[in-house]
Amino acid sequence: MLIKTLTMINFRKYEQVSMEFGYHTNILHGENGAGKTTILEAIHSLAYTRSFKTRLDADLSRHGQAGYQLKGLFSDHHGTDHEVRLKVESSRKKLVSVNKKGLTSRAQIIGKFPLVSLTPEDGDLTFGSPETRRLFFNKLLSQVDSLYLENLQTYARILKQRNAMLQDYANNGTALDRVLISTLDDQRASISAKLHDVRSQYIAEFKQLLYGSYEQMEQEKVLKMAFISNVRITGGEPESLYRRAYQDSLNEDMRKGTTTRGPHRDIFTFFLNTKDLRKFGSQGEHKLVLVAIKFAEGHFLENHLHEAPVFLLDDLFAELDVKRSLMIVESLQGNHQIFITTTDMADLRNHGLKVEGDTLQVIDAGAIQAHG
Ligand SMILES: Nc1ncnc2c1ncn2[C@@H]1O[C@H](COP(=O)(O)OP(=O)(O)O)[C@@H](O)[C@H]1O
Ligand SMILES: [Mg+2]
Repeated sequence: MLIKTLTMINFRKYEQVSMEFGYHTNILHGENGAGKTTILEAIHSLAYTRSFKTRLDADLSRHGQAGYQLKGLFSDHHGTDHEVRLKVESSRKKLVSVNKKGLTSRAQIIGKFPLVSLTPEDGDLTFGSPETRRLFFNKLLSQVDSLYLENLQTYARILKQRNAMLQDYANNGTALDRVLISTLDDQRASISAKLHDVRSQYIAEFKQLLYGSYEQMEQEKVLKMAFISNVRITGGEPESLYRRAYQDSLNEDMRKGTTTRGPHRDIFTFFLNTKDLRKFGSQGEHKLVLVAIKFAEGHFLENHLHEAPVFLLDDLFAELDVKRSLMIVESLQGNHQIFITTTDMADLRNHGLKVEGDTLQVIDAGAIQAHG
């Protein structure tokens, strides 16, 4: 997968700019605030219909503007071009089109233009709450299984409705419509079983990729990952096990005013030498696991989508030590299009990155703005 050109209109600080990218390594250069991360955000927004930093389109629209537009030309491994457009107007929905054909759901584009991003925000993946890891795996699995994404969306709708009813009961004493709750739980049990099935199957594969990429960087320690289903799925048919768990927990749910059981509470945990990384890991250990996760993510996507994902590496050298950063860049160079942001070209050179040659393009983020 490649992105060849990008146009941004009223996207963050950019009024109207177009740029061309190199097919191999792209260095986005410029001082702090020059607009480097914004370019990565635009690429991500086109591929996934949303930024990796915010879900609020109002934040992405240039100050004083009511909307923004993005256009990108992607090219797949067959060499076929795909023009993706995204348009947000003040009061209207987000419009996304691929080759001029408007999309009716996110599932139609998720997984078509795979990216792997490594940004300062990704630290949350190992440091943050279980929610962060669920989101990560949901995004990953959605890209290789569009039915999974649709099921997630349906599950989220049911959960929202169910929680609203429970909250209304707990806070306002509104009588609970038990027939409706039971209908919702039947639907939820059926979808839960499907989500569980996809998670167990793919997570087993992801684990192997993760252990492999970690082992390449660190042989002294052992990384393990666990997927812990919130409802125990053994000794029976998953759908009925979920249904029973939902019936059994209804009283507790009513007391708490929320849905306590289900795949929205599944847990993914990383262990280093059998110790919970989140609780006991050092900064350096966290970073190394994060890098291993990102490599595994890349391999996983490539195995399933048969497209080499584009890597977006934001502030890599600020985040990681030189040895690791270079290892990442060198292992990706040649078989992936990569984007690296930096404030200092000399810094890249000093770190041993070859910044000359025809496989490398330097884009001056500050200058784009000046001429835009
Ligand atoms: N919605 C917006 N409208 C105008 N400017 C914005 C908006 N959002 C962010 N900016 C500006 O963009 C700049 C940050 O861009 P960013 O891509 O993060 O820079 P870099 O990654 O090069 O440090 C900041 O100066 C910020 O004030
Ligand atoms: Mg930045």
